[in-house]
Amino acid sequence: MAPLVIAIDGPAAAGKGTLARRLAAVLDLAHLDTGQLYRAVAALLLQAGGDPADAAAAAAVAEALRPADLARPDLRGEAVSAAASEVSAHPGVRAALLDFQRRFAATPPEGRSGAVLDGRDIGTVVCPEAPVKLFVTASPEARARRRHEELLGRGEESIYAHVLTEMQARDARDRDRAVAPLRPATDAVILDTTALDADAAFTAALELVAARTGRVPPGKEKPGRHPGRPSETTGRPATDNVKGPTE
Ligand code: CDP
Repeated sequence: MAPLVIAIDGPAAAGKGTLARRLAAVLDLAHLDTGQLYRAVAALLLQAGGDPADAAAAAAVAEALRPADLARPDLRGEAVSAAASEVSAHPGVRAALLDFQRRFAATPPEGRSGAVLDGRDIGTVVCPEAPVKLFVTASPEARARRRHEELLGRGEESIYAHVLTEMQARDARDRDRAVAPLRPATDAVILDTTALDADAAFTAALELVAARTGRVPPGKEKPGRHPGRPSETTGRPATDNVKGPTE
């Protein structure tokens, strides 16, 4: 059976990462935070004194990226975030990272039966055949507030107004770039988390997975349900914050 792929896309700090990790844990799937790939390229390039605007230098770093680079402790800072968004606009960087992401989805590590990938272009470019696609979003202010609190929580300095401005610049860059711009796949379900906490977002996402694939967390099967078969319901998750495919 082909591995189950769950594609989660959306702008910065919308809650994709938390959601992807929880879905992967409860459904026993592998998880790849694809933003870490772009962040690792950016961090290595900055460390070598390179310029994120230099497409050839960034592509060379992406081609030489090793799995161990994803575990660097310095990937979440604002300088790396901004540089990640710059290097990710270079087609050579994206091409170099595409195979790794597709291989992860096609043959998830540790023999897992599927994978959750989160990023900007998973549903549109990396895994356009994924049966479950979520586009997680929230207002810029809510997202900036979350990122600000995340930075403070890690003991880093942070000024909310700066975080908001930088996030809006990054969103604009991600949305307006020529290759793999940030946008929902036509068959993605939009999950607006502005007024949803992590638990509510998780519940809505689980309902979507069940509706699209019949897959439910172990121990939550309903009598008479056939695991692995699409549910009979057309099943839009029952929350006002969830919208169906956009087109
Ligand atoms: O955690 P946050 O949402 O702030 O960012 P991230 O997912 O770690 O991604 C960092 C940057 O990498 C983004 O601003 C994008 O420019 C880029 N990225 C991308 O282009 N494609 C992806 N699939 C994932 C990230």
